[in-house]
Amino acid sequence: MPDVQYRRLDELSDAELHRMYEPVEADWLRVNFVSSADGAATLDGLSGPLSGEADKRVFKVLRTRCDVLLAGSGTVLAEGYGPLELSAERVAWRAERGLPDVPVMAVVSRSARLDPNAPLFTRAKRRPIVICTADAAVEQMADLREVADVIAVGTGAVDYRAAVTALRERGLKQILCEGGPTLFGSLVADDLVDEFDLTVAPLLVGGGPIRTAEGPTSEAARRMRLGHVIEAGGNLMLRYLRG
Ligand SMILES: NC(=O)c1ccc[n+]([C@@H]2O[C@H](COP(=O)([O-])OP(=O)(O)OC[C@H]3O[C@@H](n4cnc5c(N)ncnc54)[C@H](OP(=O)(O)O)[C@@H]3O)[C@@H](O)[C@H]2O)c1
Repeated sequence: MPDVQYRRLDELSDAELHRMYEPVEADWLRVNFVSSADGAATLDGLSGPLSGEADKRVFKVLRTRCDVLLAGSGTVLAEGYGPLELSAERVAWRAERGLPDVPVMAVVSRSARLDPNAPLFTRAKRRPIVICTADAAVEQMADLREVADVIAVGTGAVDYRAAVTALRERGLKQILCEGGPTLFGSLVADDLVDEFDLTVAPLLVGGGPIRTAEGPTSEAARRMRLGHVIEAGGNLMLRYLRG
């Protein structure tokens, strides 16, 4: 088994950080979360209060290198996702590797009940994708098709395996999922997660908030191996890979 790397974030350049998050395969689905030390995925209903400079640095590196950023409608609404923007430096990093300026944004909404006038759609640099069920409201899907590509897969529930295949068929092979817990729970249940990146923040939040994965009880626990641990100011940035 490969050795686990232990590093301090302040000793790492951005280039080294990128190398530490090099995907293992061309088709790769990674999920990135922050939680409190006692397992809460939110504080006051948001992830922001759990995060900090260290977590954001890794968050930005992961965003920089993906083809598509996948997020659930609950997260997009709660966290106020707008159109994807990257700094000039990050755009240049992508250009050097032949990647378009920004990743494509893909929003999962079972019902397709999303506002087509939201800036995430109207001001996007690349045409976004909506992933919904095939039996979502026809009018909703028609409105969204004006501003996004719609991948309608599954009946009653999104068929995530088909959705991931559809993304890959569009050449979107490096998938970064930023949550939320309902979406992550479904991806775990369908065994689609190749990598789980978790920042554990030095906070105890107590009972109440949701965990990083929610939804129906999963049938099997998926074994992961620890790739690296990066420490910064009491935060641990853990990289778990398919075992
Ligand atoms: N700690 C972190 O790193 C982190 C990361 C991301 C999010 N969060 C937090 O997580 C919360 C949002 O997460 P979330 O889990 O509520 O939403 P989510 O996973 O972002 O989105 C879930 C969406 O998926 C659809 N869906 C598919 N199957 C479903 C099912 N069986 N049951 C219900 N919905 C299903 C629903 O779409 P429709 O309702 O549109 O049909 C639902 O809104 C926010 O508070 C956010 O701040 C934390």
